[in-house]
Amino acid sequence: MKIDLADKVALVTGASRGIGKAIVKSLADAGATVAVHYNRNVAYAEAVASSLGNQAAVFQADLAQIKACEELFQEVIKAYGRLDILINNAGIAQLVSSSDSTSKWIRVWEQTMAVNARATALLCRLAIRQFQEQGGGHIINIASRAAFRGDTAEYMSYAASKGAVVSLTRSIARAYGKDGIKAFVVAPGFVRTDMAQDAVNSYGETFILGDLALGQLTEPEDIAPMVTLLASGLADHATGTSIDINAGSYVH
Ligand SMILES: NC(=O)c1ccc[n+]([C@@H]2O[C@H](COP(=O)([O-])OP(=O)(O)OC[C@H]3O[C@@H](n4cnc5c(N)ncnc54)[C@H](OP(=O)(O)O)[C@@H]3O)[C@@H](O)[C@H]2O)c1
Repeated sequence: MKIDLADKVALVTGASRGIGKAIVKSLADAGATVAVHYNRNVAYAEAVASSLGNQAAVFQADLAQIKACEELFQEVIKAYGRLDILINNAGIAQLVSSSDSTSKWIRVWEQTMAVNARATALLCRLAIRQFQEQGGGHIINIASRAAFRGDTAEYMSYAASKGAVVSLTRSIARAYGKDGIKAFVVAPGFVRTDMAQDAVNSYGETFILGDLALGQLTEPEDIAPMVTLLASGLADHATGTSIDINAGSYVH
């Protein structure tokens, strides 16, 4: 099996760190030109882009802002003239308890839904229009195990936002398949990144390993190859599917 993305342009959100950083490396290794999106960590993003080659460049946007999402997409099209692959990877997980004030609870819900669900939907909408003009394209949305099994009381907004990502992606696959648009969910379990560090600090790695069938925590590099395969066109008849990458947490 050979994956060749040499004539493809990909936008990966949240590519400055963590899972996004591993995804852009995998896509670039397969030959893709990658737009490396970030929010705050410009130095990280620039280091990632310069390590990739293939005309990779950085693009800033706070995805909590509607206008910033639209401008991000326009900037990428301006830079490369086309888009073939959209990976909605950027995400946040904020803790809030039902005993917190209503204003804090609402703030966390709105911010989480804005970044994880609304920005993903907005970028999908823009990509669908672009893909319709170009004759097709691939969307991979990074959800979470939490979308399917729920999360703790403090992370209900996170789980709900990822549930929205799953149903959005399935709807795109159903509605736009005949336009050549393929859409997939990748649903990681616990992955060793900054986002997961709080849990490692609080509970310890041994406790987290107890939830898994495998003996090691999932690394970002364990997620990236599947994303590249789905983006390659070799798995198109799996459109609409969700791929669990969670070290066997459901079968354990
Ligand atoms: N780690 C896990 O255990 C795990 C499990 C399941 C699912 N996931 C999902 O996998 C994806 C990547 O997670 P990760 O663990 O790699 O996260 P991470 O290490 O915390 O990195 C988050 C990325 O998202 C960007 N970002 C954060 N807030 C943003 C905003 N308001 N606007 C635009 N970009 C923003 C960050 O950009 P800056 O660096 O510029 O701030 C960074 O590139 C997320 O969707 C997450 O929900 C993660």
